[in-house]
Amino acid sequence: MEEAKPQRVVVMTGATAGIGAHALQHFAAQPNMRVIVGARGSGRTVPHGVEIVPLDLASLASVREFAGAVTRQLDDARIDILVLNAGMQTSNIERRSAEGYELIFAVNHLAHYLLARLLLPRLASQGRLVITTSDTHDPAITPIAPRTLDPQALAHPSKSGSGAGIRAYAASKLCNLLTAQSFAAMDEVKARHITVIAFNPGLTGGTSLGRDSSRASRVFVTLLMRTVFRLVGLFRPEYVMGTSERAGEALAEVALGTATPPHGRIYISLVKGKLTFPDPSELARSRDVQDRLWRESAIMAGIE
Ligand SMILES: NC(=O)c1ccc[n+]([C@@H]2O[C@H](COP(=O)([O-])OP(=O)(O)OC[C@H]3O[C@@H](n4cnc5c(N)ncnc54)[C@H](OP(=O)(O)O)[C@@H]3O)[C@@H](O)[C@H]2O)c1
Repeated sequence: MEEAKPQRVVVMTGATAGIGAHALQHFAAQPNMRVIVGARGSGRTVPHGVEIVPLDLASLASVREFAGAVTRQLDDARIDILVLNAGMQTSNIERRSAEGYELIFAVNHLAHYLLARLLLPRLASQGRLVITTSDTHDPAITPIAPRTLDPQALAHPSKSGSGAGIRAYAASKLCNLLTAQSFAAMDEVKARHITVIAFNPGLTGGTSLGRDSSRASRVFVTLLMRTVFRLVGLFRPEYVMGTSERAGEALAEVALGTATPPHGRIYISLVKGKLTFPDPSELARSRDVQDRLWRESAIMAGIE
């Protein structure tokens, strides 16, 4: 008699809308796969069999409760695939997380940093950690990308004003990429053959990212996409808008291991529907910057 294959476990954030909701369909369709989703609010609809555990990334206390609940629910089982995909973008950087950090930095970076640190011991050997980043981290692609990184200034910005929200978003996505590289460089991760990937879905339509931005800002971005981005897209493929269906499918491919970057690379970027493996920005590759973000994030998250 053929031996039954052990069940694989996926734990995921950002599965309730946009790119993540499409990726979730692919995970849920896999045979013998247990899928646990962290989600805020109530009345969520997810595919049959998917488990929902409450998680609000705007609160580090909620992140700790989520990690504890997942660990209890899994009992002895390990997480094969951890997908940290949730994200937000808003024009207003005055908003603060439960612990008093600027909300975009707190949700996109700090909460995921803490979650990955808390769940790393539960990750299976040869498992996968996928963190969704963005090519907005890269000054070679967009002028809004950061050229320096000061985690304290991101957590406690002193001035707001026009463009501050999108710059905070780009910086938070740089933090995702720096964090992925720090995890990939850990002895424990290497020894347990855990694959770490930073995934950029690229400019993607049909998602609700930016829904918290002001109406004026949303109108401005829509106009920009329909005019300037279309023109720039004629010679810069990164500016060609993809669909959330394809981005979700690509995220699932990357997480399930049907797509893997060449040896030694961890950054995967979806460009015109195809997976590419470019270099991250120079700042993102800096070991010093990675270490500084890691140290300061640990202090902010209270884990030193
Ligand atoms: N769209 C693009 O052009 C693009 C480009 C590059 C990278 N990305 C990245 O792709 C990822 C997915 O974005 P998307 O475009 O699919 O956006 P989306 O449609 O707005 O989905 C965002 C997801 O994150 C969740 N989320 C946001 N804040 C949360 C919180 N405080 N606690 C728990 N969950 C929270 C949302 O949950 P709710 O359903 O509760 O809101 C939703 O599931 C993000 O990391 C984003 O930065 C997007």
